[in-house]
Amino acid sequence: MQINSARVIYFSPTGTTKTVVAAIAQGTGIKKVNYTDITLPSARKVNLITVKEDLLIIGIPVYEEKVPKILTETLKSLSGEGKPAVVVTVYGNIADGTALSEMKTIVKNAGFVPAAAASFIGEHSFSTKEVPIAAGRPNLCDEHNARQFGQMIINKLNSA
Ligand SMILES: Cc1cc2nc3c(=O)[nH]c(=O)nc-3n(C[C@H](O)[C@H](O)[C@H](O)COP(=O)(O)O)c2cc1C
Repeated sequence: MQINSARVIYFSPTGTTKTVVAAIAQGTGIKKVNYTDITLPSARKVNLITVKEDLLIIGIPVYEEKVPKILTETLKSLSGEGKPAVVVTVYGNIADGTALSEMKTIVKNAGFVPAAAASFIGEHSFSTKEVPIAAGRPNLCDEHNARQFGQMIINKLNSA
């Protein structure tokens, strides 16, 4: 399978998911990468998100061990037409729960073929100086792992 382009869709109020999905995309080495940031409500007011690129990489943070409820309608508006999708969740090192498997089901129902999935750790949104939770994550090592994951994905898809 020839992968020449990718769409990266992410929801990332405190920026950790964005860092992780960007590192994964970088690791794939794909030159044509289009980013869709669905963090702000205005960006989620679309009827249909059709992915025209060869590969979807979609990342969300874990809220209460699940996919954030605020994303339900937006994620339902995805349309894949048999394209491969990589699902990514980022959690604050408490518990990742069912979010990753929920994301797999969501992309499948949207017509994508789930090709890879990974859960990463990001600094917890409620982390403070006094009570640090996964402070500084993703760190350089996490970003390295994310780039390696991207490389593994492209190797797998190119040999499919
Ligand atoms: C409302 C809310 C609920 C959360 N629930 C969890 C959780 O169940 N488990 C966990 O490990 N982290 C939880 N977190 C932390 C986030 O998953 C984590 O900080 C993530 O890195 C945030 O991603 P972002 O930087 O892309 O916004 C929660 C954060 C928020 C704001």
